[in-house]
Amino acid sequence: MKVLAILYDGGEHAEQESRLLGTTENKLGIEEWLTSQGHEFVGEQYSQYNFSRSDVLVTVSSSKEGPDSHFQQHILDAEVLITTPFHPGYLTKDLIEKAKNLKLCITAGVGSDHIDLNAAVDHKIQVLEVSGSNVVSVAEHVVMSILLLVRNFVPAHEMIERGEWHVSAIARNAYDLEGKVVGTIGAGRIGYRVLQRLVPFDCKKLLYYDYAPLPAAAAESVGAVRVEDLKDLVSQCDIVTVNCPLHEGTRGLVNDELLKHFKKGAWLVNTARGAICDKDAVARALASGQLSGYSGDVWNVQPAPKDHIWRTMKNPLGGGNGMVPHYSGTTLDAQARYAAGTKSILENYLTGKPQEPHNIIVGLGKYESKAYGQR
Ligand code: NAI
Repeated sequence: MKVLAILYDGGEHAEQESRLLGTTENKLGIEEWLTSQGHEFVGEQYSQYNFSRSDVLVTVSSSKEGPDSHFQQHILDAEVLITTPFHPGYLTKDLIEKAKNLKLCITAGVGSDHIDLNAAVDHKIQVLEVSGSNVVSVAEHVVMSILLLVRNFVPAHEMIERGEWHVSAIARNAYDLEGKVVGTIGAGRIGYRVLQRLVPFDCKKLLYYDYAPLPAAAAESVGAVRVEDLKDLVSQCDIVTVNCPLHEGTRGLVNDELLKHFKKGAWLVNTARGAICDKDAVARALASGQLSGYSGDVWNVQPAPKDHIWRTMKNPLGGGNGMVPHYSGTTLDAQARYAAGTKSILENYLTGKPQEPHNIIVGLGKYESKAYGQR
């Protein structure tokens, strides 16, 4: 049985920091785990590692783009694919059709949109995530991103590094979070944790838009109000945060048309998936001042090309950009949790034990999760 893991290269960082588990070097801890179970290391080629005991062969690589990549070559006979949203192996319908042995895809983290989930349903390939493994990590990043935009932090820090000091140039676009209206698109594990963390900031209103209403007690405990229409939600918000999965119903959801309904000068934070927001529409809205700021860690293509407009886009005052590489859900704390969860899913599969129901996105021939769109 072949297990293929597509992870990112950590280089010297992974050699110096063994807790960088999501890297090709540290392999989610799978090497130690297999060795401790009596598996034997049988060889190494390029950035690919092989371990085997009787019928288990594990291949780990970061090479994922194009027909000659290790991903596209090894997927042809792999039974299990492990990949991470931080360096996604894009498993298209076309590749699924060629992957004749594939039975299980494990997302080391949360968010399985890099897999064509409808094709996985059709081909009876199960898709599991390590649900909840990094939701606090992301929620903290969202709150940080809201604050850094509202308080105009990035231009202030850059000014200091340049040796300058113009308080007014920063303060003219700096505000308090207190008294603002904040809305989340998606109020699942992350969206709800964002709302919880915003409570002490005394915002004017906390709103959410989600086809799955929060349990009444949960909504009440954070004072969140559900808004049934998305345009209505964004038109009320000073700050919008995106916390839903990427699927057919959310791809390009935040586009030119929706951005027109935002309050002039609103701030937008997206740590969910880059493709939920239209790249060029966001850059235009920021340049025109329709948005005062955009922040997040997710991009429509990862790694983002060097000339991606989100790297350098700015508001008319030269600020408003809080973009970073995709790392909010891959803190060292999160890596420990999703590495353990990945091994547990793999172990269940190898030993025939049932999987934790909350980890199953696609079961045998059907969606088990209700989070990937209303069906
Ligand atoms: P979850 O499954 O707990 O919650 C998702 C919520 O979004 C559900 O309540 C669902 O009903 C709602 N939703 C789905 N479609 C919607 C739509 N069209 N409009 C409004 N709401 C909609 O998922 P969780 O754990 O909160 O994660 C959400 C997403 O965050 C993941 O799917 C992933 O894309 C992203 N994520 C990003 C990370 C990062 O490092 N930047 C790490 C972890 C997750």
